[in-house]
Amino acid sequence: MPTKPRLTMLKGLLPFLRPYRTQFFLAGVALVVAALATLSIPYAFKQMIDLGFGATGSQSQGQIDLYFLALFGVASVMAVATAARFYAVSWLGERVTADIRAAVYGHVLKQSPQFFETTRTGEVLSRLTTDTTLIQTVVGTSISMGLRNLLMFIGGLAMMMITSFKLSIIIIVMLLAVVLPIVYFGRRVRKLSRDSQDRVADASALAGEVLNAMPTVQAFTQEAQEIARFGATVNTAFATAIQRIRARSLLTVIAILLIFGAIVFVLWLGAYAVIEGRMTGGDLGQFVLYSVMVAGAIGGLAEVMGDVQRAAGATERLLELFATESHIQSPDHPHALPPPTGQGAALTLQDVCFNYPSRPLTPALDHVSIDIHPGETIAVVGPSGAGKTTLFQLLLRFYDPQQGRIMLDGVDIRQLALNDLRHAIGIVPQDSVTFSANALENIRYGRPSASDEEVIAAARLAAAHEFIEKLPEGYQSFLGERGVRLSGGQRQRIAIARAMLKNPPLLLLDEATSALDAESERLVQGALEAAMQGRTTLIIAHRLATVQRADRIIVMEDGRIVETGTHEALVAKGGLYAHLAALQFHAVA
Ligand SMILES: Nc1ncnc2c1ncn2[C@@H]1O[C@H](COP(=O)(O)OP(=O)(O)O)[C@@H](O)[C@H]1O
Ligand SMILES: [Mg+2]
Repeated sequence: MPTKPRLTMLKGLLPFLRPYRTQFFLAGVALVVAALATLSIPYAFKQMIDLGFGATGSQSQGQIDLYFLALFGVASVMAVATAARFYAVSWLGERVTADIRAAVYGHVLKQSPQFFETTRTGEVLSRLTTDTTLIQTVVGTSISMGLRNLLMFIGGLAMMMITSFKLSIIIIVMLLAVVLPIVYFGRRVRKLSRDSQDRVADASALAGEVLNAMPTVQAFTQEAQEIARFGATVNTAFATAIQRIRARSLLTVIAILLIFGAIVFVLWLGAYAVIEGRMTGGDLGQFVLYSVMVAGAIGGLAEVMGDVQRAAGATERLLELFATESHIQSPDHPHALPPPTGQGAALTLQDVCFNYPSRPLTPALDHVSIDIHPGETIAVVGPSGAGKTTLFQLLLRFYDPQQGRIMLDGVDIRQLALNDLRHAIGIVPQDSVTFSANALENIRYGRPSASDEEVIAAARLAAAHEFIEKLPEGYQSFLGERGVRLSGGQRQRIAIARAMLKNPPLLLLDEATSALDAESERLVQGALEAAMQGRTTLIIAHRLATVQRADRIIVMEDGRIVETGTHEALVAKGGLYAHLAALQFHAVA
């Protein structure tokens, strides 16, 4: 249901244009000078014909020289002013687009995970590239083309009136008849261009998704299907684009035919006027040049309208994007966390209920209350889908609970600045991520100010040092996009090193050792235990060795905490934990 983009949408661009007022003013000056120079050429032309050619005697030689010189002078002014206008306006287009791109990216990076659940990456990328490019066309060309053509139109028309009022009236009446079909087709082009951009966005979103899952695609030998699927999307985009192009072609042919038809007709009348002596040849020449200018200006305006309408669509989408405010915001007057004690943070959950926005009916956390003391190590266990990862997401405030509250060191986390909260937390996620940078920089992501030595020390702690050393270029080795050049266990150890480098009072480990072999796990286990000293740690784990060492175990099922206690107590109790322990831990331990 694409709504028609309104041209008033372009007002949304004003904040981006405002900083460059001076440049716009200079561009405007160049534009007006160039237009005036162009407008005076037919007049100079007439003088040349009527006086230069028409006069006789020795005086005419001087006249001819003078008028030709004047004509060249005007042309020079036009050349310089046109170039200046082009430079100034293109500069503005590039500058404003760069600003918009940066602003869009900055805005997207502040969105909560909910935004990324519902928005495809490809869509965001298309906003960043396609839409901003459309706006660049407008700021960098269309505005100046439009203004130029408008000046030429008004100036040319005025000069036409002065030259021959009667002929001008005839031509104006005819031009008015031309406007209606142009407006109609203009509307159609506008709608189709938005559709066309949407289809292109579809195609790039699809490609993005598939490229991110290449191994899966190939393992399931789905290449042919994916190629066909993409081909179909691209063809839909093509078909939509052709519709737009067709409408626009029609618009062009109608506009040119009608406009030039009118001019030829008037010329024909003018020719009679000259024969009958009601006009001079110079007048008619001047009139013709002005009407060609006016017609060209109308054609130019029609073309500009197409671009402007497309840009209005693009601006509308960008404004929509800017209007989406993240649900997760820092409070206006954030509280400060108490200074770190070196003992770890205290964490309290009071009657927390939460469901993911996309699943309003299924509680992911159901009346969860826990009290965790500074320095405690808590193991969180439970079947897959129990809500363990969700718990961590809430602690990081990726989502806010619908009910209840979470307190870090006695402060409701909603009263903390987001950065303060997240600075206090180190996380090793379930699917650890590496960036397309080298090993050193990937670990340093945990604390950008860390020295190389500190990074290497953290890598040693995470039992990552040895395998990194063995990479072809050691710490300088490029890890590949999304870490494709590492094994799962190696990626996990990079993630652990990153979290250790951050050195936070609250450490969250989400199945951080699940992809490790027994030997690396033993190494990492040692490291993790060292890392747990002096901080509060929550570990989601399946392995007995990890769970047993925890001070307390929280057992979750279906979003609820069903049991808490020490390993021994829970085994003795014979509940879910005892069952899980018997099932899973036995095999591993
Ligand atoms: N982003 C999401 N949107 C909707 N539902 C989700 C989302 N993430 C997880 N869930 C659902 O919430 C429940 C708890 O998931 P999770 O916390 O990841 O479980 P686990 O204990 O295995 O870590 C599951 O039923 C899961 O399907
Ligand atoms: Mg999980």
